[in-house]
Amino acid sequence: MQKQFEPKSSGLLVRAPAKINLVLLVAGKRDDGYHELETVMAKIDLFDTLLFESPPGPGVELLCRGKAELSTGPDNLVHKAARAVFAHIGREIPVRITLNKRIPLGAGLGGGSSDAAATILGLNEFAKLALPTESLLQIGAAVGSDVNFFLGGPQSFCTGRGETISEIPKIFFFRAILMLPKLNTSTKMVYERYVHDAAQYARQHDRLAAFLRRSDLESAAQMAVNMLEPSCFALHPELEKLKASVESLGLGRVTLSGSGSALYLLVSALPGQAQRAQSIIRERIGCECITVNNNRW
Ligand code: C5P
Repeated sequence: MQKQFEPKSSGLLVRAPAKINLVLLVAGKRDDGYHELETVMAKIDLFDTLLFESPPGPGVELLCRGKAELSTGPDNLVHKAARAVFAHIGREIPVRITLNKRIPLGAGLGGGSSDAAATILGLNEFAKLALPTESLLQIGAAVGSDVNFFLGGPQSFCTGRGETISEIPKIFFFRAILMLPKLNTSTKMVYERYVHDAAQYARQHDRLAAFLRRSDLESAAQMAVNMLEPSCFALHPELEKLKASVESLGLGRVTLSGSGSALYLLVSALPGQAQRAQSIIRERIGCECITVNNNRW
């Protein structure tokens, strides 16, 4: 199993895992414009990596490899997270961060938030800041709604706008086929389109609460509910079609992760099963897909 931190001769390598939402319920819209969530998030073994090294000059130098379309400017969440750490400690740390991007962007897999969390954890380790968990969470919440989940985990029940974390004591071991349509969604636009279904929320809330009392994430995942699907599908009807086509293959239920565009299907961990399902989806639907597992940290 790959570890999160790996010392290198030139510095420190930090892995930033992606996540999927095993369940996502929206409890309603808040006065501050955000949506109140009840979501179970699980890290998966698909990683970006961040290499922390001492730079030749002052300040933060960010280099990106992999996905070319990613900006290395101040809007990159790595910069935002580094600035939040510096504001907290009251000084700047000169650092060169090389981000190797493998997690698709705009896919609902939390890549940007995970990179931000890895920046906070990486700076804490690289510069030996010894910041307590409480401070890390305070910095994370200011950077983005999903960042705090990535500071802990590997599987948590997240509420509030997603930043209030309660870790699940029992790990749910799973394997999933992750479908990666060539399409980026905007989280903001998906939430803007969201129309609340109070009856659905009430029904699913009770079911989820019962499963969580027993830390039974397998049953929670079998609910296959993401209340952002209707608004995401209204913006991107091709995703709804993709879900229906894959479900018609009889391999199981397909669920959207976060605000999309990635969809996943839980499969059996028996040898060969995932490979078979993946080949069927690729050949019959023509969608890019990969097999992922739950991550253990
Ligand atoms: O916090 P983050 O930057 O990840 O959220 C992106 C956008 O998604 C927010 O600006 C907000 O419009 C929307 N959002 C929301 N409710 C949440 C999380 C995000 O409405 N719980």
